[in-house]
Amino acid sequence: MKQLLLIGGGGHCKSIIDSLSQNTAFEVVGILDTSEKVGTFINGIEIIGVDDDMEKWFVKGVHLAFITLGSVGNTALRQNLYEKAKTIGFQFPIIQDPTAIVSRETTIGEGTFIGKGTIINASVQIGKNAIINSGAIVEHDSTIGDYCHLAPGSTFSGNVTIGAHTHVGTNATVIQEIEIGEHTVIGGGSVVIRNIRSFAVAYGNPCKEAEHE
Ligand SMILES: CC(C)(COP(=O)(O)OP(=O)(O)OC[C@H]1O[C@@H](n2cnc3c(N)ncnc32)[C@H](O)[C@@H]1OP(=O)(O)O)[C@@H](O)C(=O)NCCC(=O)NCCS
Repeated sequence: MKQLLLIGGGGHCKSIIDSLSQNTAFEVVGILDTSEKVGTFINGIEIIGVDDDMEKWFVKGVHLAFITLGSVGNTALRQNLYEKAKTIGFQFPIIQDPTAIVSRETTIGEGTFIGKGTIINASVQIGKNAIINSGAIVEHDSTIGDYCHLAPGSTFSGNVTIGAHTHVGTNATVIQEIEIGEHTVIGGGSVVIRNIRSFAVAYGNPCKEAEHE
């Protein structure tokens, strides 16, 4: 079993611990979070230190880490933690819940979480540190960028492209051949039938970019 350090407590961390509970490849040594949470537990796993303790654990021999902090729109903190850990020398596994159905013809980047009940079909490419949350469906030939969060129940028809850092909300539907830019947020329940630009907030059926004030 390889020792694994989780970085970031909270609700998303719970999901990842749950997905790891039957995984015999990793032994979770603990979670890093903020100082006031040290000594508390998330699903039986102790918060053993703060983010600045990463290097200490690396020197102790823990060389695998996973960013377990969630994101809804703003991915800056997840990226900062990843880059800090990467600079120290940590490596990042892919964590896939045993209930996920993932084609063998798929490329997935390091540090990406594939949650419960997801379906990822043939020739999909997913970047690093992405969150493919419970029940998301990513159809054939789609490309999902680094740090994207595909929220629970979101559906991506064939040949969709989602730019890096984009959040697609709970139960949103994206029809085939659509391109959504980087750092964009798509509202929960939206139906995306036209391309959406980078750095936009868009929602509704049909999904439209919010008016800027
Ligand atoms: C799209 C979103 C980011 C907008 O948030 P916001 O900028 O704070 O917007 P507000 O809540 O102020 O709403 C502004 C208007 O947009 C409407 N609106 C917001 N989200 C909407 C959505 N998903 N679908 C339809 N209309 C929406 C509101 O009803 C409101 O309309 P009004 O001005 O006529 O009253 C947010 O509503 C959302 O859907 N986030 C995704 C959440 C998610 O996926 N969570 C998953 C966690 S795992």
